[in-house]
Amino acid sequence: MEIILKEKEIKKRVKEIARILKKEYKDKNPVLIGVLKGGFVFLADLVREMGIDCTLEFIRLSSYGKKSKIKAEDVRIMWDLPIDIEGRDVILIEDIVDTGHTLKFLKNDILKRKPRSLKIVVFLDKYERREVNLDVDIIGFKVPNKFLVGYGLDYNEKFRYFKDVYGLTEEEIERYGK
Ligand code: PRP
Repeated sequence: MEIILKEKEIKKRVKEIARILKKEYKDKNPVLIGVLKGGFVFLADLVREMGIDCTLEFIRLSSYGKKSKIKAEDVRIMWDLPIDIEGRDVILIEDIVDTGHTLKFLKNDILKRKPRSLKIVVFLDKYERREVNLDVDIIGFKVPNKFLVGYGLDYNEKFRYFKDVYGLTEEEIERYGK
């Protein structure tokens, strides 16, 4: 595995992002929505660094069809939010934006629920793979087009627990794909 981001630089960036969010949201009791499953590590670190009152919720999506050919119409909500977010300040927390179809779908869906504001915060941006126009408000790191694992991201449900982010080699993709 090739190291892409070390724990130390991740921590530093998470602190920076948390500082920006704390300043803007400290008196707003925002709703932080973590996108499962990959977003759970980033969200857990962010929320502790922010250190402000907020409502924590999760949403889980699923996409049908091949991952490499995902389209917005393939995305479905598997577990929806249990609360009404109309009039609330919402912060969406996602681990990675790749083609952008997942976040585009989610953004449209959330906006239909009439939040007072919506901010999209993404840990990793695989910008070379983008297929749709999408504005992301805060990006942790821009990353190369490699298969990435760790800090919440998995390959075949493996490696989510890594504290650093790694890129898999072709041989590892083959080996762990079984
Ligand atoms: C990943 C990631 C995003 C999506 C990004 O989810 O968490 O939700 O893919 O891809 P896109 O920009 O091409 O739409 P994944 O399906 O791996 O699920 P997981 O978070 O549960 O591991």
